[in-house]
Amino acid sequence: MTDIRDDVRAGFAETFGYEASGIWSAPGRVNLIGEHTDYNEGFVLPFAIDRRTIIALGLREDRLMRIASEFADELVELDLSELTPENLTGWSAYPLGVAWALGEHGADLAAVPGFDIFVDSDVPVGAGLSSSAAIESAVALALNDVWALGLDRRTLARVGQLAENRAVGAPTGIMDQSASMLGETDSAVFLDCRSLDSEIIDLGFAAAGLEIVIIDTGVNHSHATGGYGERRASCELGAKLLGVTALRDVAVADLDQARTILDDVTFRRVRHIVTENQRVLDTVRVLREQGAGAIGDLLDASHQSMRDDFEISVPELDLAVETARMNGAIGARMTGGGFGGAAIALVPVDAISRLQVAIDGAFAEHGYGQPDTFVVSAAKGAGRD
Ligand code: GLA
Repeated sequence: MTDIRDDVRAGFAETFGYEASGIWSAPGRVNLIGEHTDYNEGFVLPFAIDRRTIIALGLREDRLMRIASEFADELVELDLSELTPENLTGWSAYPLGVAWALGEHGADLAAVPGFDIFVDSDVPVGAGLSSSAAIESAVALALNDVWALGLDRRTLARVGQLAENRAVGAPTGIMDQSASMLGETDSAVFLDCRSLDSEIIDLGFAAAGLEIVIIDTGVNHSHATGGYGERRASCELGAKLLGVTALRDVAVADLDQARTILDDVTFRRVRHIVTENQRVLDTVRVLREQGAGAIGDLLDASHQSMRDDFEISVPELDLAVETARMNGAIGARMTGGGFGGAAIALVPVDAISRLQVAIDGAFAEHGYGQPDTFVVSAAKGAGRD
């Protein structure tokens, strides 16, 4: 970690010719359970991971914003007076989108100074681990500090989400940025996406002798196009036909009646959300009462629901989940928005190497590209370093 911070500092000085005034960082996230429930005003239980995006920032005397990074050759420049979502393209839409979104949350963009930012990250991109939320959260926190805006972390999560929705064009919810902003070591963030009330829940993985293994299938996904928006539209249609503000307001006991009102596809989309919300509540209760060793069935049920009812899994994710279950995992599911990305498996420490070998073998046998399999732990959220 220290290495990346030193690299970012050096990269900043080399690119911009002066020393940065500070270093900020924010983590990616894994969602333990509660998928596609966030934009239905329901519950989620993600945790921030020990993979971070690090930024170095220096304020300028003029109104220019300049963005450079370790992973792209280009240096992007834009004047604050030209900052609109429409003017933003490529990966710099994430950091610059945040600057714009801060304006929507009260920053006086006609008065603030410009800045230079240099970015590096060890959050894998496209793996469903929220590399985008990591950069949004790091930039939101840094600009909140240097522009002295005084916004709290909940609001900064909203800022990141707005940047994602408007500048990047992905109709995503509030989960990823909240996890990145609010995460704590060895704990998950239990978030009510309606009230934005959150509670830190002890995961107790170490006490139970368990680890979370990520299986990154390498299958690329984008939430700015296609499936994600379609699922969101189905949920909104379901809520409308059932006469509720959001699917959060439908209980498991209401499903029999919902079946008589909705077409088959809409009903199954709704059933996923309603049962998934309940699974989040159950997971929190089981973690508290029995510990992490008892949540495996809930993770498995979540995957089945996403595979069969919400239909957002892909064959590579199903294979990862099945292989993990047959090789020692006590529970496994795809994580994140779906259509690619990663699965998580909850695995006893002494079964991890066997599981990794089995996953590699199963992917080779099916002619799929080799997945990337690694352990993550629950880490602290965004901060100034
Ligand atoms: C993506 C989105 C989140 C959430 C998940 C699915 O990660 O960014 O807001 O909707 O998908 O749970």
